[in-house]
Amino acid sequence: MSRFPQVWASEDEHLRAARPEHPVYYFSPEALARTARRFRSGFDGLATYAVKANPERTVLENLAAAGVSGFDVASPAEIALVRQIAPTAALHYNNPVRSQAEIAAGVAAGVASWSVDGFGELEKLKAQVPRGVEVSVRLALPVGGAAYDFGSKFGEGPEGAAELLRAVAEAGFTPAMTFHPGTQCADPAAWARYIETCAAISQATGVRLARLNVGGGFPSDRGQGATALEAVFDAIHAARDAAFGAEGPGLVCEPGRAMVAEAFTLALKVKAERACGSLFLNDGIYGALAEAPLMGAVERVRVVSPEGRPRAGAPRARVLYGPTCDSIDRLPEPVDLPGDVVEGDYLLIEGMGAYSTATTTRFNGYGGYEVVTVRRAGLS
Ligand SMILES: Cc1ncc(COP(=O)(O)O)c(C=O)c1O
Repeated sequence: MSRFPQVWASEDEHLRAARPEHPVYYFSPEALARTARRFRSGFDGLATYAVKANPERTVLENLAAAGVSGFDVASPAEIALVRQIAPTAALHYNNPVRSQAEIAAGVAAGVASWSVDGFGELEKLKAQVPRGVEVSVRLALPVGGAAYDFGSKFGEGPEGAAELLRAVAEAGFTPAMTFHPGTQCADPAAWARYIETCAAISQATGVRLARLNVGGGFPSDRGQGATALEAVFDAIHAARDAAFGAEGPGLVCEPGRAMVAEAFTLALKVKAERACGSLFLNDGIYGALAEAPLMGAVERVRVVSPEGRPRAGAPRARVLYGPTCDSIDRLPEPVDLPGDVVEGDYLLIEGMGAYSTATTTRFNGYGGYEVVTVRRAGLS
C-alpha cells in the first residue's frame, strides 16, 4: 500500500465518486501549513501545537514538516505519539495534574517544560524531575471573551501563583509562567491582562521568568474573521513590551484550535427528513459535533446533492439531530440550510479540525469516520 494518501481535487469531487455513508473529514495540508506559517511569522516566540485539539497522525506529520518543533502534550499517550512522529521535538507537558506514573513517563521521554498549579503537584515534580528543567506556574484570572471558561479547573490566583513561583525557583527549577485565557477567545485584552499580572508577580517575587507561555485559546477564523489571530499577536507583543520592558521573557504559545480548525471541512450525510422539516444526520453531539452545545450555532455550512450539485434554495431553519437513539443528540440551535435540501444530500461544514475527531465517541456504534486529503487551490 502507498505511504501517500490519495489526494482529491475537491470535497465535491470525492463526494460524487464515493457517496460515503459515514462522516468524512476533508483535510487540506496546505491550509494547515498556511496557519503554521501565520504563527511562525506573526508570533514573536516559539509556537508549539496542543496535540489534544487533533491528534491525527497526518496533522502531526504535516505540522512537523511545516517546521513546528514543539508540542503541548497532556498524557503519556500523547507523548508517545509525538515521539513516534517528531522524535526530537520539544515536549511541553502542560496538563498540570499528573499521577506519579505519568510524571515518570514524561521524565523518561525528556519533557522540556512542565506546568504546575498547586504545591502538591510541585512536590510530585520535585520527587522526579531533574533540577534545571523548566517549570511554569499556571495563573488563573477571571477574564472574559472565551467560548467557555478554563480558569475554574486549572490555575492559581495571583497570590498563590506568586508563592508557587518562589517555590519553583527555590527548588532549583527554571522558573516560567503560563496561562490559558479560555478557548476561542475573541478578546485580545484577555492576553494583555494575563501578561501584566505575570509581570507584576515576577517583579513582586523578584523571580525572573525564563519564559512566558501565553497559552492556547487563540481564535480560529470561525465567526471572528481572518485577521483575529494577528490582532491577538499584536496585543501580546505590546503587553509584553509594556509590562516587562527590554528584558522580557521569551514567549511560547500552544495553540490547538486556531492551528488546526481551518484545515478540515466535515461532510455529513442527511439520513432522513421528518415531515416537519427536521433533519437526521450521520453524526451529532456524541461525535464530530460534540462541541456544538458549548460553541453555539454551527456556521459556514453548504449543502450539495450526491451528484455534487450545490443546493441553493431559499434558506430555511432546520432542527438537526444526530444519528444515535438518544434524544439529547440534537444541535442546540436550528441551522439555516437551503430549502431544497433532501435526504441523501451532504452538509459540508468548514472549520471542523479542532475537538472533533479528538472527542468522538462510539456511542450506539456510531463515530466511525474517514479522513480524506484534498488540495485547496490558491493555498500553497
Ligand atoms: C494547557 C493547554 N494548552 C493549550 C490548549 C489548547 O487550547 P486551544 O485549543 O483553545 O488553543 C489547551 C486546551 O485545553 C490546554 O489545556
